[in-house]
Amino acid sequence: MTEPTPSDSQAARIGILTVSDRAARGDYEDRGGPAIREYLREVLESPFEPVAMVVEDEQRLIEAALEALCDREACCLVVTTGGTGPAERDVTPEATLAVCDKEMPGFGELMRTVSLRAVPTAILSRQTAAVRSAAVKTGEEAVGHGTLVVNLPGQPKAIAECLDAVFPAIPYCIDLIGGPYLVTNEKRWRAFRPRR
Ligand code: MTE
Repeated sequence: MTEPTPSDSQAARIGILTVSDRAARGDYEDRGGPAIREYLREVLESPFEPVAMVVEDEQRLIEAALEALCDREACCLVVTTGGTGPAERDVTPEATLAVCDKEMPGFGELMRTVSLRAVPTAILSRQTAAVRSAAVKTGEEAVGHGTLVVNLPGQPKAIAECLDAVFPAIPYCIDLIGGPYLVTNEKRWRAFRPRR
């Protein structure tokens, strides 16, 4: 994997999808989406453009939002928050897997492991991650790179806990699916890229 050149300096588009009936209806303010945006601002040194959406816990709406963020909005990474639990309307992992072609189970395994140190109910989260490959994308505006979708729980304080665990592996994953070269703030932690 080569270091970025000035022509690569185009901002990476990153989707932030809040899945919540109450936030979508305006019953309460979305706190998860802004927390993800703040986290990305803190850890990413390369330019990025957040694309935020809020949807109800309806599988077909979540799938449509994910497809729009992956294909039309050309995001290389989409982070979701909410809808990963066991309740009837918690369907974010199902929607994620329905629009993706490669599950990345290590993300959920690691996030549950670190979350368990904070709360015993972390085992109730079915969060996962998956890749929507470039080949699966459709439409005239479809982009030539894949998209990594990562599910986080709905609890705003879970966001940094989970992202701190998995983010060091995300830039290399984005490299492997043909996305832009992400540079992280090394004062926080260094993105791990194995030598090839
Ligand atoms: N993980 C962390 N780090 N912190 C939390 O507070 N809450 C848990 C779990 N994972 C939690 C967590 C709870 S109570 C549930 S029900 C599941 O995430 C699913 O949450 P969601 O349905 O809001 O996605």
